[in-house]
Amino acid sequence: MTQLIYFSSASGNTHRFIEKLGRDARRIPLYLKEDTILADEPYVLFLPTYGGGNGKGAVPKQVIKFLNVLQNRELIRGVIVGGNTNFGAAYGLAGDIVAAKCHVPVLYRFELFGTPRDVDTVNEGLDQFWLQQPTLATT
Ligand SMILES: Cc1cc2nc3c(=O)[nH]c(=O)nc-3n(C[C@H](O)[C@H](O)[C@H](O)COP(=O)(O)O)c2cc1C
Repeated sequence: MTQLIYFSSASGNTHRFIEKLGRDARRIPLYLKEDTILADEPYVLFLPTYGGGNGKGAVPKQVIKFLNVLQNRELIRGVIVGGNTNFGAAYGLAGDIVAAKCHVPVLYRFELFGTPRDVDTVNEGLDQFWLQQPTLATT
């Protein structure tokens, strides 16, 4: 059972943040030529922002490829986005773009690989978030 899916580029900041959370997570492949992954249960997507604030390329292409799969779009429940406040208004922009396209909330923004406080806040927030999600009827 995996409820986190993430992308992290070669610099690995988002990967480091995910490691600090201590939760199971699946990584979207680094290289576009690789097959993307298929979500099989509701998940929260973690992604970093790129594009440098010029309005293009904020969402990594690997994430676009992943979200082009219908099942992956159907199962996304929220977004947590990484970025760098040096980019001003474009801080965490990728999260806003994915949230708008997929009609899910941006649950949190963090800089680079996150602070210990970010880790605690996200872990507590995720526990609460999953408790609030409707469960599927079993009958
Ligand atoms: C070329 C480049 C462009 C970036 N553009 C943005 C940006 O527009 N907004 C933002 O918040 N962060 C931006 N960042 C910062 C990254 O989101 C940040 O370094 C993130 O932690 C990278 O995660 P990763 O190492 O997991 O790929 C940019 C970083 C690079 C190298």
